[in-house]
Amino acid sequence: MRYPEYRGRRLRGSAAMRDLVRETRLHTDDFMYPVFAIGGINKKEAIEGMPGVFRMSCDLLAVETKRLFDLGIKAFMVFGIPDHKDSHGSSAWEKDGIVQRAVQAMKHAAPEAVICTDVCLCQYTDHGHCGLLTREGKIMNDPTLEILSKVALSHVEAGADMVAPSDMMDGRIASLRSTLDECSYVETPIMAYSAKFASAFYGPFRNAADSAPKAGDRKTYQMDPANGMETLRELEADYREGADILMVKPALSYLDIIRTAGDRFDVPIAAYNVSGEYAMIKAAAEKGWLEEERAALEMLTSIKRAGAKLIISYYAPDVALWLNR
Ligand code: PBG
Repeated sequence: MRYPEYRGRRLRGSAAMRDLVRETRLHTDDFMYPVFAIGGINKKEAIEGMPGVFRMSCDLLAVETKRLFDLGIKAFMVFGIPDHKDSHGSSAWEKDGIVQRAVQAMKHAAPEAVICTDVCLCQYTDHGHCGLLTREGKIMNDPTLEILSKVALSHVEAGADMVAPSDMMDGRIASLRSTLDECSYVETPIMAYSAKFASAFYGPFRNAADSAPKAGDRKTYQMDPANGMETLRELEADYREGADILMVKPALSYLDIIRTAGDRFDVPIAAYNVSGEYAMIKAAAEKGWLEEERAALEMLTSIKRAGAKLIISYYAPDVALWLNR
């Protein structure tokens, strides 16, 4: 007896049938929304290259947090844009620094929300690098670790639920973990930006955060986009040092890394759908070259399909509107 040729087409005939067998489904629970805090009151500034995203003063940020929380976006990543910078980024760990104030305001407005902070120095240093520099302009790894620990601790003391170091110094997860543990914050998780590539897709973010390096680039501490094996070693190191979540960043050009990380490590994998990935779709949609909703949801679905449990995306508010419709 001959079997009919298998065409694999029978489960795609109707919308209800397609829904029944869909493997990957986006949910607002999957998302974390990055926000940019600035000083002052009632301030809202547009960001070049990121339509729909604004730098906001803490009062407005609090209102926005509550609004989005009610729409189903329950997690936030806070970036601060400080009023002053210096060579060692001292405004990053002030008790009433910009991130510390933003965290307090956001937690007050939405106590149930997960408020995570980006721990890095590049917005706070006058040279724009993620760590301390020697006079010759070289990154100093170990002295930077001490400062990052101070920054993370000040965020947690202000009420942050999780810290996410994005600096890419070696040993920072162990160093942050021991600082937090010594200060009795044993329950506070660390999300490590483990596989952070030296990417062209951070362009709009550096405008938003005013954090482009004044000289040189980040290639001595961020990963070479060509290197997969080396990236696994970075993930492994952060895992061993005690990271609770491992992040791959950017997402779209690194879906293979997300997949491998998800297969290899028994902690949740996060993916950062970065500013340039957002800008590409926004710009093409503005020109009428792409259908924004379809393109954005397809991109985000691919990130989840690749194995990300958590997606950090500027599209989170739009996703909430689209999925709640
Ligand atoms: C800071 C940091 C950057 C991003 C997140 N944290 C910029 C960089 O490393 O240059 C980029 C996020 C984005 O592009 O959306 N180290």
